[in-house]
Amino acid sequence: MSETVFEVKDVHFSYLGKFPALCGVDMTIRSGEKIAIIGANGTGKSTLLQLLDGLIFPDCGHVTAFGERLLEHSQGDEKAAHRFRKRVGLVFQNADIQLFCPSVREDIAFGPLQFGVAEQEVKRRTLEVAQVLDIQHLLDRVPHQLSIGEKRRVAIASVLAIDPDVYLFDEPTAGLDPLTVRHIIDFIVNANQQGKTIITATHDLHIIGEIADTVYVFGRNKSIVRGGSSESVLNDNALLEANNLIHMHRHHHDDKEHVHQHLPMEPHD
Ligand SMILES: Nc1ncnc2c1ncn2[C@@H]1O[C@H](COP(=O)(O)OP(=O)(O)O)[C@@H](O)[C@H]1O
Ligand SMILES: [Mg+2]
Repeated sequence: MSETVFEVKDVHFSYLGKFPALCGVDMTIRSGEKIAIIGANGTGKSTLLQLLDGLIFPDCGHVTAFGERLLEHSQGDEKAAHRFRKRVGLVFQNADIQLFCPSVREDIAFGPLQFGVAEQEVKRRTLEVAQVLDIQHLLDRVPHQLSIGEKRRVAIASVLAIDPDVYLFDEPTAGLDPLTVRHIIDFIVNANQQGKTIITATHDLHIIGEIADTVYVFGRNKSIVRGGSSESVLNDNALLEANNLIHMHRHHHDDKEHVHQHLPMEPHD
């Protein structure tokens, strides 16, 4: 059986000790898996990704990554922190948090330079990942002046430049045009085919069939209400409706009432 990447055991987390964000989450993620975390707004998806990325730590319960506990006090261990940062990369929903250099080129180069990759190799890698994300023409631009779709690609490129084993994506397709969505889905599928573990938080049900084999549904109780194959979850309308991932839409035609399902993102007629 493949290596366990993350083990999440009865994890509870509150912001500032008073705003609960995760209430008893358990999951095991193995190397090479393609996972989606779905749930309505505020169900704890982003919080979970930040825990998996070692940015925050559980109030109780624990998170293990590659067999080692993620602990706040081990952050002082620079070698272990480096090892972890090389293996796990988070693409934030808000690219502005991630991009802070004066140029796209420097943002992409930042990670590998931090890890001591030689300058010549960093230059080569920067061009290579820019090509993969189709952002060669943006390399000398100022990141915060880019469009949201361009920023998202640059943010992905800056993680790809580190070449982690595990990608964490937070709402990677939110607010993007269809072509950019396609590009990002293709990136995820390709990376997974090359053996990368992919964990995506999203409430966009349209993309789940492609980006996930296994889906965890987060509910209002801020824990997992169901884990299963993407097919079984997507076919369970009652589950999706109860968790605010689809809603029934009522309207009248010629005095007859129709009830349709709608995905939250779908425009209504
Ligand atoms: N920085 C924060 N301070 C206080 N509460 C927060 C903060 N970030 C998130 N929360 C709360 O934690 C819960 C989970 O949020 P989040 O993980 O962002 O959910 P999701 O990503 O599923 O929308 C929500 O109730 C939210 O209000
Ligand atoms: Mg979120």
